[in-house]
Amino acid sequence: AVVEDGVKLLSNVVASSEEMHQKTGGIVPEVAAREQVRSMIPVISESLITNIDAIAVTTGPGLIGSLLIGVETAKALAFAWNKPLIAVNHLIGHIYGNFVDTDLASKDIFPAVVLVASGGHSDLILLKNHGDMVWLGGTLDDAAGEAFDKAARLLGLGYPGGPAISKAASTIEPFNHPTIKLPRPLLNDSTFDFSFSGLKTALYNTVKQSPTLTSDQTTGLAHEFQEAVTDCLVTKTIKAATEFKAKSIMLAGGVAANKRLREKLGNSAGIIPVFCPAIKFCTDNAAMIGSAAFFNQNFVNWENLEPDSSLSLQQFP
Ligand code: KG4
Ligand code: ZN
Repeated sequence: AVVEDGVKLLSNVVASSEEMHQKTGGIVPEVAAREQVRSMIPVISESLITNIDAIAVTTGPGLIGSLLIGVETAKALAFAWNKPLIAVNHLIGHIYGNFVDTDLASKDIFPAVVLVASGGHSDLILLKNHGDMVWLGGTLDDAAGEAFDKAARLLGLGYPGGPAISKAASTIEPFNHPTIKLPRPLLNDSTFDFSFSGLKTALYNTVKQSPTLTSDQTTGLAHEFQEAVTDCLVTKTIKAATEFKAKSIMLAGGVAANKRLREKLGNSAGIIPVFCPAIKFCTDNAAMIGSAAFFNQNFVNWENLEPDSSLSLQQFP
């Protein structure tokens, strides 16, 4: 993507290998990395519609093969074109999906409570300003997106799980609300943490009891699973926003695309404004990385840059 002043999107090209991952029911890291090598240069040349001032790249967290391809390409281009290089934490990048093509940067939004929920991470942070944040809590086991993906596999709904569960849940008939109640782990504890592996196990045990699920049962369970995950995410986010007197709440990451999550958070936030990225800037994209680079300006020498697959929000900046 090419982004001007952190906000204006001039170009955005996405190469997706989702169809390939659907066949394997999830991402095979080696397969993803091989596809990325193949599409990297064509995608960059398609997106380069104007002169640029700097190059931004995600250094982590993520799959190491994919990170290496991005980081090495960015280093090569920074050297060859003699352009400054800016490193971006992928999770910080997700937050800036909120700023792309919006007027959020001119609003009185800080301190903001941000829920970053993706396939690999689920974190709650207090964003006091650009580059100034405190980590409040996160998942103790599975990430929210990962929980959706595993639940969809258990229910035979395919990959990626979030959209599949959401679609199935939306077809539920009012009379079909399941009597089975799934747990809401850590819902009322004193932390800002999440835990989704017990919820997944509860779903697994339910599915095991009736090996051939009718389609009504499947949609009922998808619905209840989505309710359970979103209850946990919303409750902790509102608790944090209230406790830290947040001026705004922001959603970020692939799970932020979930309509039920957006709806519930909006209904529970009272007078605190809730911001969500456009759907296409929730799941992984380059525009959010360009925006985060502008607002955080973490310049690095290309000679020293290495990817770090285990980067987290706890170590920021
Ligand atoms: O942020 P993202 O694109 O990639 C990572 O950085 O992990 O997030 C991908 C995750 C997947 O687990 C996917 O199932 C989930 O986001 N996701 C959703 C929805 N769309 C994508 N989860 C719930 N509801 C959705 N509509
Ligand atoms: Zn992501």
